[in-house]
Amino acid sequence: MSATLIDGKAFAASIRERVAGHVARLKDDHGLTPGLAVVLVGEDPASQVYVRNKGKQTEEAGMASFEHRLPVDTPEADLLALIARLNRDAAVHGILVQLPLPDHIDAAKVINAIDPAKDVDGFHISNVGLLATGQKAMVPCTPLGCLMMLRDHLGDLSGQEAVVVGRSNIVGKPMAQLLLSDSCTVTVAHSRTRDLAEVCRRADILVAAVGRPQMIPGDWIRPGATVIDVGINRIPAPERGEGKTRLVGDVDFDSAVKVAGAITPVPGGVGPMTIACLLANTVTACCRANGLEEPEGLTA
Ligand code: GUN
Repeated sequence: MSATLIDGKAFAASIRERVAGHVARLKDDHGLTPGLAVVLVGEDPASQVYVRNKGKQTEEAGMASFEHRLPVDTPEADLLALIARLNRDAAVHGILVQLPLPDHIDAAKVINAIDPAKDVDGFHISNVGLLATGQKAMVPCTPLGCLMMLRDHLGDLSGQEAVVVGRSNIVGKPMAQLLLSDSCTVTVAHSRTRDLAEVCRRADILVAAVGRPQMIPGDWIRPGATVIDVGINRIPAPERGEGKTRLVGDVDFDSAVKVAGAITPVPGGVGPMTIACLLANTVTACCRANGLEEPEGLTA
């Protein structure tokens, strides 16, 4: 038997369509244009690609995109001054500072300088606390995208055994909070977990977010489980020619697809959902800032 593929590319396109519909209504009914400011410090090539894609998809959804590209040696104080300006700017509803930041800048200080209401990444300590206590928060985009895919595929998640492999602030921890809020029984596993294979085999829902290529083989997966692979790892692919590479997840797809009930492919699974959720969060932030009803189905 072969698992159902969860098509993140198609699902992300449907989210973007819903976002665009909301943006059009905000314009027509309230004269509002949601605006997203993205700040990039330095010239990290992967970050540049992300930022370009974010800008393009923001504009395609009918929103305003503000890009701030700063040199790699920008003093921390200058970055903080820009954030203070964006916090005051009524045309900006969402602020994202692309990570990683150069070493001379204190990333936590910068993130916590963002107005929590504009923190569309959901990384500000206030949003982390709101999420952890089950209150209305801005929710980090990647785990929000994973949750949307799980709800879409499985419906009600309550009572499910969920295992999250990875304990990062960006994915693992908020993912665990979201699954708990949906009444799953949640285990957070990581590289130091004893008998990780056995822990993974308990999972009805397995979320892999460790950043290690193909670390989770098919025989760690419970037959019929739903597998969400957050990993995006580039590995050498000599079979494609000398010097060629390819993208793989944290799950060994070829063996996992034979056991799982459903699985997200890499690429084309979780990846496209992240920017779609960033756009959704920007619309949510715009609605909250203006005391308007939030878009249905686009929040946790
Ligand atoms: N760098 C890689 N992923 C992300 C993300 O989701 N948000 C930010 N701000 N930076 C990132």
